[in-house]
Amino acid sequence: MSLKDQFGKDILLTGWGHSKFGKLTDDTLESLIVQVAGEAIKNSGLDPKDIDEIYLGQFNAGMQPLGFTSSLALQLSANLANVPATRTENACASGSAAFQQGVKSVLAGTARNVLVIGAEKMTDAGADVVGAALLGASYEMAGKASSTGFTGLFAEVAKHYGKRYGASIPGETLGDVLGSIAAKNHHNGMDNPYAQMHRDFGVDFCRTISEKNPMVAEPLRRTDCSPVSDGAAAVVLSTSATGGATAPVRLAGFGHANDFFPAEKRDPTEFAATRASWERALGMAGVGVEGLDFAEVHDCFTIAELIMYEAMGLTPRGEGARAIQEGWVYKDGKLPVNVSGGLKAKGHPVGATGVSQHVIAAMQLSGTAGDMQLPTARRGAVQNMGGVGIANYVSVLEAV
Ligand code: COA
Repeated sequence: MSLKDQFGKDILLTGWGHSKFGKLTDDTLESLIVQVAGEAIKNSGLDPKDIDEIYLGQFNAGMQPLGFTSSLALQLSANLANVPATRTENACASGSAAFQQGVKSVLAGTARNVLVIGAEKMTDAGADVVGAALLGASYEMAGKASSTGFTGLFAEVAKHYGKRYGASIPGETLGDVLGSIAAKNHHNGMDNPYAQMHRDFGVDFCRTISEKNPMVAEPLRRTDCSPVSDGAAAVVLSTSATGGATAPVRLAGFGHANDFFPAEKRDPTEFAATRASWERALGMAGVGVEGLDFAEVHDCFTIAELIMYEAMGLTPRGEGARAIQEGWVYKDGKLPVNVSGGLKAKGHPVGATGVSQHVIAAMQLSGTAGDMQLPTARRGAVQNMGGVGIANYVSVLEAV
């Protein structure tokens, strides 16, 4: 079984573009969108007149005053006049929401070539505005004051996890394990030219509370958090090769699952709907997690990556620490996770993240990932999440 068996056609990523991530003071949301849209269309070998539909993933929620952004990509070219364009919003998974809507348009036959963009400009607003906007993705905390913001919500997840499983982690504390995940991703980020943070902090720094690594919301230290970021990424989806300079990449399976919004209806240590999205995507691709050569996952906080090892089926529940302690998820391990540096080091411009993950995976699978390139990269997965395990998307991608 494959996506083609199920739907009768291939979905190919035929071109892609990626901006630098970080505090981009010289850019606007519009300039970032236009930059990556132009790169993706050019790299696909197409002309803007060949684009049948546009999806833009952006969360916003008050971080930018412009609240109606679907048409911004049309600024790229007069040849994009009258192209239908829609903005998707699903919190930090807005980019993957755009990607999967684009996939569905191609599968439905209403579009041949779809331009998918993810973009966010977070650093123009003050920290209080950004914090309030992000908390809008919490059923309980939306509109409420908080000194710890979204970090506080994942800190609660970490506390529940530590209480239930902490004692069974061999030889180390939960804080040590989270510090190792942070150090791994910061180390990987050194090879990513698009990454916001090029700082190889090392395990000791990430495991230790210090003036430079303070507690943000216990047990999460600064190095356990993704940063606040600007950035954008784009891909072109098509049913067949479009003559671009880079080999296209095939979508082998995709899955999307939303969980109940109120925290009381979820087990905070499980990410049940995240697991469901993994099962759907892997099931459609007809592979197990052992069939993947790498994964780019949503490490908005290090505890999320730890639980992801379990949600993707790499380890049983409560044993995710094994994946990092036994070296499986390092660049030379059996399943390298977040070779790009992940959200942790690459940055997390929320609406851009899902599309960025697809672009990084496409680079790996087309052999164009530069210093990030893995020696074997035939099949990989990307996983993107909005809220605390609420909106969940997974894609399985293959080299053609
Ligand atoms: N990880 C590591 N270092 C970080 C960092 C991060 N996430 N964020 C900032 N830094 C570094 C800066 O580079 C700077 O280093 P320097 O002093 O050597 O120049 C220093 O920490 C202070 O930067 P500043 O921006 O003042 O940090 P801050 O304390 O205001 O913010 C966080 C740090 C972690 C609170 C902030 O990045 C944050 O809120 N992250 C979470 C964002 C979020 O919730 N996203 C949605 C997820 S679902």
